[in-house]
Amino acid sequence: MKKREQWGTRIGLILAMAGNAIGLGNFLRFPVQAADNGGGAFMIPYFISFILLGIPLMWIEWGIGRYGGTVGHGTAPGMFDALWKNRLAKYIGILGILLPLIVVVYYVYICSWTLAFGITSIFGYLPHPNVDPSSITPQEYLWPYKDHLYQYIGATSSGLFLRPTPSAYLFFIITLLLAFRILYKGIVGGIEKLNKIAIPALFLMAVVLLIRVITLPSPVGNSLKALDGFSFLWEPDLTGLLSSKVWLAAAGQIFFTLSLGMGAIMTYASYARKDEDIALDGLSTASLNEFAEVVLGSTIAIVSAVVFFGPNGAKEIAGGGAFNLGFISMPAIFSNMPFGHFFGFIWFLLLFFAGLTSVVALSQPAIAFLEDEFGWKREKSVMVLGLAFFIFAHVPIFINGALDEMDFWAGTFGLVILALMEVVIFFWIFGSENGWREITRGAHIKIPKVFYYIMKYVTPTFLVVIIVAWSYNQLPDILSKSDSGIWIARLFLVTLLIVHIVAVRVAWTRRRK
Ligand code: ALA
Repeated sequence: MKKREQWGTRIGLILAMAGNAIGLGNFLRFPVQAADNGGGAFMIPYFISFILLGIPLMWIEWGIGRYGGTVGHGTAPGMFDALWKNRLAKYIGILGILLPLIVVVYYVYICSWTLAFGITSIFGYLPHPNVDPSSITPQEYLWPYKDHLYQYIGATSSGLFLRPTPSAYLFFIITLLLAFRILYKGIVGGIEKLNKIAIPALFLMAVVLLIRVITLPSPVGNSLKALDGFSFLWEPDLTGLLSSKVWLAAAGQIFFTLSLGMGAIMTYASYARKDEDIALDGLSTASLNEFAEVVLGSTIAIVSAVVFFGPNGAKEIAGGGAFNLGFISMPAIFSNMPFGHFFGFIWFLLLFFAGLTSVVALSQPAIAFLEDEFGWKREKSVMVLGLAFFIFAHVPIFINGALDEMDFWAGTFGLVILALMEVVIFFWIFGSENGWREITRGAHIKIPKVFYYIMKYVTPTFLVVIIVAWSYNQLPDILSKSDSGIWIARLFLVTLLIVHIVAVRVAWTRRRK
């Protein structure tokens, strides 16, 4: 068996896992989901999903990943094949390479916007209309910022039609090159090093912004305070419990934010030592991510929006689109404060670090697959994938509607399917006793036994309910879309799936020889 790389230090591993999970999802997606779904009404389903899906799946993915690493596999096809002696297992595992690859080709593009906006912000090129916010409506106040974003990504105000500006394309190339340069340097020299710098820096920047937001004076004529923002988010509102829309949004957010059902956690865990305390590490990953999300991300983006635009304004902004809080309301708020350029820069740099560490994590499964299953050297794997990635990324950048279509199939629906496969294969086929032993092996903390039952019964049931509800609520809408951009995106996804099936087949045929 080929010797595989391992993380250099434990702190390096934990920071890398935190970087894997903490991403644009924490700072852009979460605030929008929370505000759009009623703030306090969202938080209860969110926390229940965290306990019943997030933590159990985090442990399961660490368990599968570390186990896979010890038998020479860094990705789900090999891991599932080792856990389940069935010829189907490796094909099901394809999702663990395909999903992160699809997500990352659009994710890297969004990540590149944050770099561009950071630079624009520090040089003072973001709009600065110099009007008193209390004299106009929030919509009027936000308009120049919205216009700025839409022009940058080439979108019409009626809906996203992507015709990117040359600078958007340039920043996409820069971000891609940077990510692949890091990946080229390997697990310790590239990924671990990046995270050891980026994650502490990210927390530091978030704390600076948090302090700024808590002390934010409300605009003239508006008596709202940070406390109003906190109560918008934290005042428990039980109505969310009765809404399937809120439940689906909350569970979907848990998956996306923790990078669960994406294959990326399993791949990173495959580089852990065989006696690594994964019970504690998995819990640390989930906790760091939640701290970044519900304490830092939500306070910065939601509390500031509530102070500035009121609870209804914040809800309306969030409802207007996934990027509205991060790319429109935040710059608008910064433009109205002393040293706004500087704070704007920190905000976008924070987003960039969060995004880049996740881009690297989501790209790693495909690289690990080429290295482990084809025996390629890392350099060759990174170069080949980098080129393929560059070509693939043109679909979400240039095809109208493709980004949303890819986000639904890979970044929403697919994650839950892969997660269900993981639980079934690890806890039902490999066996609940074996799975539990694998997760608790080498642990210095005692995982409460109730999680054994949650993992065995509750998590898979919850996953099935989500899949059924999504299929019922959203699939008909998604499937009824049929313009040419959507069909190109679907063709692209099916082609990628076929390429993956062929790759797995070839890899396993070679191995048998
Ligand atoms: N978990 C990553 C994020 O939250 C993908 O953005």
